[in-house]
Amino acid sequence: MKTTAISFLLVALSASGCTSQAQSVRHAAPRPASSLSEAFEGHFLMGTALNTAQIFEKNAAETSLITSQFSSIVAENCMKSESIHPEQERFFWTEADAFVSFGEKHDMHIQGHTLAWHSQAPAWLFVDAQGNEVSREVLLDRMQTHITTLLQRYQGRVVGWDVVNEAVLDDGSLRDSAFLRIIGPDWVEHMFRFAQAADPSAKLFYNDYSTWKPEKREGIYRLVKGLQDKGVRVDGVGMQGHMGLHTPTVGAFEEALVRLSELGEVMITELDISTLPRPGKDVSAEVSLSVAYQEEMNPFRQGLPESVAQRLNHRFVEMFELFLRHRASISRVTTWGVTDASSWRNDWPMKGRVDYPLLFNRDRSPKPAVARLIALAHN
Ligand code: XIL
Repeated sequence: MKTTAISFLLVALSASGCTSQAQSVRHAAPRPASSLSEAFEGHFLMGTALNTAQIFEKNAAETSLITSQFSSIVAENCMKSESIHPEQERFFWTEADAFVSFGEKHDMHIQGHTLAWHSQAPAWLFVDAQGNEVSREVLLDRMQTHITTLLQRYQGRVVGWDVVNEAVLDDGSLRDSAFLRIIGPDWVEHMFRFAQAADPSAKLFYNDYSTWKPEKREGIYRLVKGLQDKGVRVDGVGMQGHMGLHTPTVGAFEEALVRLSELGEVMITELDISTLPRPGKDVSAEVSLSVAYQEEMNPFRQGLPESVAQRLNHRFVEMFELFLRHRASISRVTTWGVTDASSWRNDWPMKGRVDYPLLFNRDRSPKPAVARLIALAHN
């Protein structure tokens, strides 16, 4: 019998005074999970991304929501190279250390994000004192120092790292970034080699968005498979899950999940489901996109209409049904943020909108999807 049915039965039995029968049923049935992390335990880790205020536990109610609902954390920004390595000779550890301590204090799995990414990289990284682009050797040396320093500082504490983020374009080719321009097409390989040498016990991942687009999916597959065939360790792929209410289709996402799971562990790393109209045709999570504010693109300032709220809940359910079907391949599902109040989607790709992309409302109450997901995990 399903746990939800049993809980219903227990309520019905105690309401009718049949407590002795209820007692015996209670002994036979597992206690229904009261949180997402508990419900998905044994299936996959349930993660969230933490911002600065959350890392420093500025709000007790928020901390308790995070620690009760999630079993894994990733830093939304503070481990990106621009934040943690702002000057060549200076690392800024305060926030990243606090992030790692948060995870240890609350007994959570800790993911590092991200070592090599063209975005949110400090200006000094790619140029010399005169402002000219550095040579391949110099950039490789700088990245080796960066990667080695981070991995060794958090060795045995950060379990896995997004070693390379977003190196592949929609057409499957390598992105024309400073890394590609200066180092050449083998740049990704070097980043994984540096990471493996720095901490052989860390899990090493490639992470990207729009992995459901077939050409991009195959580009990522070729890249990672090529490295693995050469003996470079890549433990798996992180599929960012920045979605809309209808895009991508469950089928397209599933095809990518199945294909990428041939490479190792799959993680759904950055799940959020925007409810807002998409400006322009681009369906991606390209952080450099920035569209001027338009009032008509911000339709839900006063709240989400019931029909949209229902669609959102259904969308979460259908995605988690998919994740559960493939739980043997998935090690972690992480939402990109805790509540709607602090989601980056309020400001990307258009600043100043009111979006509802996460599982918890602005007042920290759970959306109806949360109870449905918990029930789903038991089926
Ligand atoms: C986003 C953060 O959420 C924002 O706060 C920041 O301003 C920009 O980056 N892909 C990634 C994440 O890998 O690191 C990005 O996070 C979202 C897209």
